[in-house]
Amino acid sequence: MNRRYRKTVIAGNWKMNMTATETKKFAEDIRKHLEARPKWCETLICVPACNISTAMKAFKDLRISVGAENVYFEEKGAYTGEVSADMLKDLGVKYVIIGHSERRQYFCETDSTVNKKVHAVLNAGMNPIICVGESLEQRETGITSEWIALQVKSALFGVPADKLRRCIIAYEPIWAIGTGKTATAEQAGEVCSEIRATIRALYGARVARSVTIQYGGSMNEKNAEELLAQPDIDGGLIGGAALVPEKFVAIINAANQE
Ligand code: 13P
Repeated sequence: MNRRYRKTVIAGNWKMNMTATETKKFAEDIRKHLEARPKWCETLICVPACNISTAMKAFKDLRISVGAENVYFEEKGAYTGEVSADMLKDLGVKYVIIGHSERRQYFCETDSTVNKKVHAVLNAGMNPIICVGESLEQRETGITSEWIALQVKSALFGVPADKLRRCIIAYEPIWAIGTGKTATAEQAGEVCSEIRATIRALYGARVARSVTIQYGGSMNEKNAEELLAQPDIDGGLIGGAALVPEKFVAIINAANQE
C-alpha cells in the first residue's frame, strides 16, 4: 500500500451468493464485528444486482458502500435481462466490477466488451474495478506479463488520463480464485508492479502512481496483511472471505492500520 499517492480499497465480491434476507442478516452480523468504522481504507461490497437497494439500506451507517458485479455497455433498449450503467448510478452505486474472469469464462466477455463497459461506467460517473488475470497454463508457459499487459491496455483503450484516476485495476490470477491457493505476496506484488509500469508507459508516472491496484484470489484474514504490505498492492477484491463477517472485518482491519 502507498497511502500517500492513492487510496486503499477493500472490496467484497459476493458473486451469486446471498439473498436479500441474508444480506440484511450479514449487515447485522458485521455491525457486531466492526470495532471502528474503517478510516484509512475505503470499503465496499459488490452484490447481486437484485440486492443493491437492500444492501444500500442495510449498510448505510456502516460506511460500507455497495457496488455492482456487472453492467451492460449499451445505454438502454431491447437487451432483455441486462442492467445499464445509468440504472446502477441511479441506485447510488459508485463501483462496478468489470471483466471478472468468471464473466470472461462463462459469459463470453472479451477484452472488447470489457473496454466498452469501462467506458459506460466512466461516462455514467462511476468507478470501474477492472479485473485482469492469467490462467495456470499461461503462468506456467511464462506469458503472464505479456498477457496482463494486453488485458490492461485493451481495457483502458480510449480512456483519457483524467478518467483513469477513477479506475481500479484488480489483479486476480485465475488459478488463485476460490481455490485456497493464494499467489505469494511476491508473485502478486510483482504482477501489480508490472500493471503500474504498463499504466506508466501509457499515461506517465504521476497518473500511474495515483491508480489503486488490488489483489484478488483467496485473500483472507490470514494472508491479507502480507499481501497489503507489497508497495503496489493497494487493496483486495475478496470473494469467499467477504461472505463471512468476521473474516471480512479482519481483512478491513489489516488494511486500516495507521
Ligand atoms: P476468492 O476470494 O473466493 O478466491 O474470490 C476472489 C474473487 O474472484 C474476487 O473477485
